[in-house]
Order: sequence, then structure tokens, then C-alpha cells
Amino acid sequence: MEPIPSYGAPQADRPLSLTVRKTEAWQPRVTQVKRHSPSVVEIEVRAPLAARNLRPSQFFRMQNFERLSPVVEGSRLQTEALALTGVRNEHDPERLSLMVLEVGASSRLAATLHAGDPIVLMGPTGKPTDIPHNETILVAGGRRGAAVMMMLGSALRAAGNRVLYFAGFRTADELYMRERLEHGADTIVWCTASGPAIIPHRPQDRSMSGDFIEIVQRYADGALEPQGQAPAFPLDSIDRILAIGSERLLRMVQEARTGRLSGYFCKDVRAIGSVGSPMQCMLQGVCAQCLQWQRDPATGRRTRAVFSCAGQDQPLDWVDLDNLDARLAQNRVQERLSDAWLDYLFTRTGIVRV
Ligand code: FES
Repeated sequence: MEPIPSYGAPQADRPLSLTVRKTEAWQPRVTQVKRHSPSVVEIEVRAPLAARNLRPSQFFRMQNFERLSPVVEGSRLQTEALALTGVRNEHDPERLSLMVLEVGASSRLAATLHAGDPIVLMGPTGKPTDIPHNETILVAGGRRGAAVMMMLGSALRAAGNRVLYFAGFRTADELYMRERLEHGADTIVWCTASGPAIIPHRPQDRSMSGDFIEIVQRYADGALEPQGQAPAFPLDSIDRILAIGSERLLRMVQEARTGRLSGYFCKDVRAIGSVGSPMQCMLQGVCAQCLQWQRDPATGRRTRAVFSCAGQDQPLDWVDLDNLDARLAQNRVQERLSDAWLDYLFTRTGIVRV
């Protein structure tokens, strides 16, 4: 197996040939792999053209190279195509980060990449989130929501919006890149499903452990505020809701907005859900792996199918979450088997991973 040629760093005293310049611009290469939590890994990549074009909420299709991936007990450790949220590097315009949420064998293999490895990267793809001006926005996000908020939160605030962010994690140790999340929100309510609550670092932030919607309701009721104070952002002042996370989180927000929390919001609040459906080509209309039904919320009847890789942000009430759940579950048996097999392979080899 021949290694892919490396052209090294550009030398200031020698003009670069067109071939080398093209390779520098178009061959994404890993510069750093960092673990942020037990289930979140950041792959920092030098990819000048991709980094320059990245907008908030867009993502990339990433794979490792087949010919560079090791073979262990007859299994080639090659990833399938992963849809990964992109985050612009604050210091280097030619770099970006891909946030990997470890949920199965392919995503866990991302932790075996090393600085210098070339990768297959397509994108940025997907539609950037619409950035309104001077609105009060409630963001409800899980782990994927946190990855999206790394860029989106700052962009929303830069456009004059006020951001109230309910940041959901299963446990406190899942929190990652806290400072960047804080930069993107006026107030954060840290929500953990179980275990100890996250200790806020800023006076305006709150935290609680328990049911996500229960925490939103308690915030709205002022139960998370010091005695006698009202919350900084009453829910009836919210113009827009962005729900970014798993099918379960989208369902909780969809049901609560029209049910348990309906009396808290204004009637004309806009609710948008970011749909994370199964994907394959991510080329916005080629393979149809990402097709997602929408339905009329009044009748419950399906109205149209959309390519969610071409528009992940959809009116929350229209998203057919039963369809999304079924599509996400369609390969579950194979995914569990691959995951268990990878556990076994990791015990059989000294492959280095973060
Ligand atoms: S993933 Fe192929 S068309 Fe959307």
C-alpha cells in the first residue's frame, strides 16, 4: 500500500507549483484530534476552501481513506460516510473542526485518526440557518445542538438577537467547549437528565438536573431564579424557537409547545426543528437516503417529502417524527452488531485512539 504523498508545509523561499497549491487547497488533512467528553471528539482539519465557505449549521460528509485504514482480523476499519457539524476555527481561517458524537462504530473510528492523516471531506453542505435580526430566540439543544451552537449562537447574537439557550446533556460530564457555548448565548440554562447539575460559571446562567421540559417550565415559572426575581427572558417574549437535537428532543419540544407549555408562548412564535435524519450522499437530492415526511399538524396527514440534507431546518410542527424515528431505526441491528464487533477488535489490537 502506497501512502498518499504529503507535500509538507509551503516554503516561503520557493514558489509553489500549481499542483502543490491545488493539493494544499483541496486535500483536507487532520491537524489535531481532541476528546472533549466521554462521547464527543473534535477533529481539527486544515481545509482552506471548505473553511472559507462554512456557514452556521452547515455540515460535512467525512470518511477515512479505505487504503489507509488498517485491517484487523479481516475487518477493514473504514468509516461509512459521517455527517458532521462543522465549526470555524477562531484563530486560523484555513482550519475548521468537525464535531463527532460517538453513537456507533463509524463515529467511534474517528477517534483513531491522527494529525497528518488525509481524509475525504465533502461540503460544507446543508442549508445555513436563517439568521433573523433583533429577535428573542429560545434554543433547545442536545449534544448535536451544542455542536451547532458553537457557530450559530455567536452569529445570532451578532445580528442583534437575544439568545436563551437550554443546553441539554445526559450527564454533566458530557458538557464540552463551555466558553464557546457561553459566548453564543445571553443566558444558558444547563439541563442534565441525571446525576449532579452543571455548576454555572456566569451569574445569569441557571442549571438543573431532571426532565428537560420540566426544567423549561420551572425556568418560565421563575423557580430557578433567586427569591422574588423574574426570569430574564419570559417565554411570552420569545419570537422563535430552534430545536436542535435528537428525534426525542424534537418530539419533546414539539409536544410541549402545543401541550404542556402552550400557555407560556405567544400564539405567533415560530418553531423550527433541525432534522438529523439518516444520510448517505449529502448532495441535496441525489440518493434520497435523507427523505423526510412532513405532515399537516391539523389533520396529521402527510403532505410532502423533503430532502433534509438540503434543508435540515424545518417547521417543527410539520416534521413527521414517527417517520424520522422509523428511518433512524432501520439499520439499528446492524449498527449494534458493528459496534459490538468494534469493541472486540479494540480489545484485540493496540490501535491508538484519543
Ligand atoms: S443524503 Fe443523499 S439526497 Fe440527501
